[in-house]
Amino acid sequence: LAALTGVLLSSILLAACGENSPSILNVAGPVAESESSLFWLILYLALAIFILVEGVLIYSIFKYRERPGTPNPYQNHGNMLLELVWTVIPTVVLFVILFFTIRGLLQVAPEAEPAASASQPKIEVTAVGHQWYWEFYYPKYNVTTADTLEVPVGTTVHVKLFSNNVIHSFWVPSLTGKTDVVPGHDNTKWFVAQKTGLFTGICAEYCGTQHANMRFNVNVVDNSSFMTWISGQQQAAAAPTDALAQKGEALFKNQCASCHGIVGVNVTQFYNTAQECTDLPGGKANGTPQCLIGPNLTHFGSRSLIAGGVLDNNTKDNNCDPNNPNLMQSCNLAKWLKDPQAVKPGNDMAIGALSNAEIQQLIAYLEGLK
Ligand code: CUA
Repeated sequence: LAALTGVLLSSILLAACGENSPSILNVAGPVAESESSLFWLILYLALAIFILVEGVLIYSIFKYRERPGTPNPYQNHGNMLLELVWTVIPTVVLFVILFFTIRGLLQVAPEAEPAASASQPKIEVTAVGHQWYWEFYYPKYNVTTADTLEVPVGTTVHVKLFSNNVIHSFWVPSLTGKTDVVPGHDNTKWFVAQKTGLFTGICAEYCGTQHANMRFNVNVVDNSSFMTWISGQQQAAAAPTDALAQKGEALFKNQCASCHGIVGVNVTQFYNTAQECTDLPGGKANGTPQCLIGPNLTHFGSRSLIAGGVLDNNTKDNNCDPNNPNLMQSCNLAKWLKDPQAVKPGNDMAIGALSNAEIQQLIAYLEGLK
């Protein structure tokens, strides 16, 4: 028992370690705060009951253990007072939990989303669940990115959840609990990040072979950094200037453009399959469907994660410098382009075999898309 309690407690404590460990105990905003306070309340109540019940049990085991010469203890058949006590107390405990659960539900409900004001600004994001990556679309700014949700600190983030394939679930333990992303049933949710930093997000509904690798980060930055990021993302992709990247662009058009869009190269809008074929402006209704299955790559080089959040876009220290002699070993994008099925089996990246020279060209082009 002691060992079990120790394991339980230490796993709870360990779960709280690490700056961006995906834990509901690393609270970084009011929605997660409300959820974790309910967790602690129930844990403490359960702990008190556990200690009381186990205490009485252990006391009885010792007190009334069989010893030579002692008579059997008093045999009791029914005690009205005791039965009332152990019926009323659990009922009261359950009503306390019910009260705080309902209060918590109301605190995080869509209706509780703070109205936009000067002191509490708001942004809107559509989170699109793909098999298997997250795409984030900012309708006000007409910006799309993948794998990392950039948000300003202290701002209400209104999230529209969209899928046109299977059910996913959007979960950022430090910021907000899970909400399912259901095809044909557009849920919404909201959260506010009270501190800057990187928070891990997870898909929390089994959605196919790479469900476990459908991760994302929420990068919470100050407001001016966010606006700088937005204005960078709003630029069309700059045409490559050096010869290697130009070859990469030609290769992209030839090999990648049927699944991936780059604004100004093969598409004119940021939307891809899920959104534009259905309910967003610029979609089918406008007669301009650009139904691409892979992430939009317009600002690929500025992203911190690739391959559905599984790999760092490790461009630092010349790792992905196309002229790095160890490019194939040190650059994650090189590994991904060489054999995407080895990195993430079952994914839809159906690229033909590329030579190392071709990979070098593609890296020169894609990493240059800041
Ligand atoms: Cu998407 Cu699990």
